[in-house]
Amino acid sequence: MDGSTKGRVALVTGSSRGIGRAIALGLADAGFDLVLNDIDRQAVFLAAVKAEIEARGRRAFVVHADVSRKAEVTAMVTEAIAAAGHIDAVVNNAGILIANSVEDLEEEQWDAVLDVNAKGTFLVTQALLPHMRARRYGRIVNIASIGGKHGAPLQAHYSASKAAVMGFTRVLAQEVGANGITANCLCPGIIVTDMGRTNLSDKANVAKWVDITALRRLGQPEDVAGPAVFLASDASAFVTGQSLNVCGGIVLS
Ligand SMILES: NC(=O)c1ccc[n+]([C@@H]2O[C@H](COP(=O)([O-])OP(=O)(O)OC[C@H]3O[C@@H](n4cnc5c(N)ncnc54)[C@H](O)[C@@H]3O)[C@@H](O)[C@H]2O)c1
Repeated sequence: MDGSTKGRVALVTGSSRGIGRAIALGLADAGFDLVLNDIDRQAVFLAAVKAEIEARGRRAFVVHADVSRKAEVTAMVTEAIAAAGHIDAVVNNAGILIANSVEDLEEEQWDAVLDVNAKGTFLVTQALLPHMRARRYGRIVNIASIGGKHGAPLQAHYSASKAAVMGFTRVLAQEVGANGITANCLCPGIIVTDMGRTNLSDKANVAKWVDITALRRLGQPEDVAGPAVFLASDASAFVTGQSLNVCGGIVLS
């Protein structure tokens, strides 16, 4: 990235591991300072990511919060702005997947997945918007999924949550565009993380996914970092309301 990212600050939710961690490190490599979020029980791992970012010569701040709880999100955003000075970009990455069939799905499982994936994205975005509007600048990057476009058995509620994120983002882009704020989604495919392994239960399953991927391999968390840096920076200034597949060519559009 060019010097336009110098002094920029990004908040990445769920950044103690997996895709969120890779995006945070990618943003740091591109020149961003970071505000790192995750739930309390990930504190040790989040502290390690903070150290990795500081070792790259960037500033890093930790703010714990459950993104599905409004009071915690409000406090997180206040704390983040106070610590870092301002927030230029947010990556709504925190997410959960609980595999279950539609017939067996419990109401609590539906609520938990929709609360973190869809409501969490809304709550964090809503809390940041006054700050971004006042500065007439913002980059909102929401991590959806190709699962929200197509989906797989046992993931109907997950698919619904990610389709919700994409619909939310398309309307958000229209509401905030006049204020210099862009909003886009990334739709990862099968990425090897704690969550991604849900889709990779045995060798046959792995072979199946590789077989339907044009690039003939599984994705790594770092594969999502480059597109996230692009959408969080000025390189994407005229891109908004889009949902970009980062899936090695499983879904083609
Ligand atoms: N791995 C994949 O194959 C894949 C594919 C498509 C989309 N995604 C999406 O990418 C994002 C990251 O997934 P991942 O694969 O890195 O999963 P992961 O489980 O490895 O990481 C998710 C992170 O989110 C955090 N988190 C969970 N609930 C939270 C909450 N309420 N508040 C704050 N943080 C919370 C977790 O503690 C964890 O650090 C998710 O939104 C996921 O749906 C993943």
